[in-house]
Amino acid sequence: MTEKYNITEAAMKIIHDRRSIRDYSDEPVSEEDLRMILEAGRLAPSGENAQPWRFIVVRDPDTRERLGVVARGGSGRRFTAEYVTKKMHERFSTMEDEEKKKAIFEKLTSGSVSAFLSTAPVNIVVCGKKDVWDMPYDTSAAIENMLLMVTALGLGACWVIAPCIDIRDEERLKALLDVPEEFKVISIIAVGHSTRYPKPRPRLPLHELVYLEAWGQDYYGEEE
Ligand SMILES: Cc1cc2nc3c(=O)[nH]c(=O)nc-3n(C[C@H](O)[C@H](O)[C@H](O)COP(=O)(O)O)c2cc1C
Repeated sequence: MTEKYNITEAAMKIIHDRRSIRDYSDEPVSEEDLRMILEAGRLAPSGENAQPWRFIVVRDPDTRERLGVVARGGSGRRFTAEYVTKKMHERFSTMEDEEKKKAIFEKLTSGSVSAFLSTAPVNIVVCGKKDVWDMPYDTSAAIENMLLMVTALGLGACWVIAPCIDIRDEERLKALLDVPEEFKVISIIAVGHSTRYPKPRPRLPLHELVYLEAWGQDYYGEEE
């Protein structure tokens, strides 16, 4: 029989309070905390229990700097592609202020939104074994476990995919970190002590997300 825990409020608080943190102090992450975070990743579920994840802990400032450079390039190219394919227009559709639009556009296409990676004292590079079918889901489960443990420890983290989207960047990362051919670099998690705790980003309400028995049938109605 599974245990019924009496800490549901604490669990929900951790889920609720997790934020993507992009501003860090220089204070190092202790070995004890880091081990708890990695342990949380290790215990994640995976299809057929394949555990296709491997984690590279990067503390060295030079290596982090180089990861930041790759993240900047990847992020800039992604947002430039969003602009060219007109996907970015949705982002701006409700924004009136032209100056604000310009500033956001420049920030996104410059890649600076993801370059913060190197300013976190620890970068956890998450790799996944390519021949495992469920690997993208498995590694995502491990990453979320780690993000929640980071929050429980009073630290901050951000899941950063920017340096891993473009195959050329992935090759750069693999060369930098000696990642073998049979693994893919999935994402990098920035971890550290937060100096700025952002407001929550909006989430869709349950009544827009949950259906009863079949697609499109209200489960919660609109009263929420
Ligand atoms: C798969 C995935 C990839 C992400 N990649 C990036 C990234 O490259 N750079 C970044 O700054 N944030 C990244 N994020 C963080 C999201 O922007 C963030 O989760 C989202 O805006 C919601 O904000 P919150 O995490 O504070 O609730 C990523 C999140 C996920 C789940």
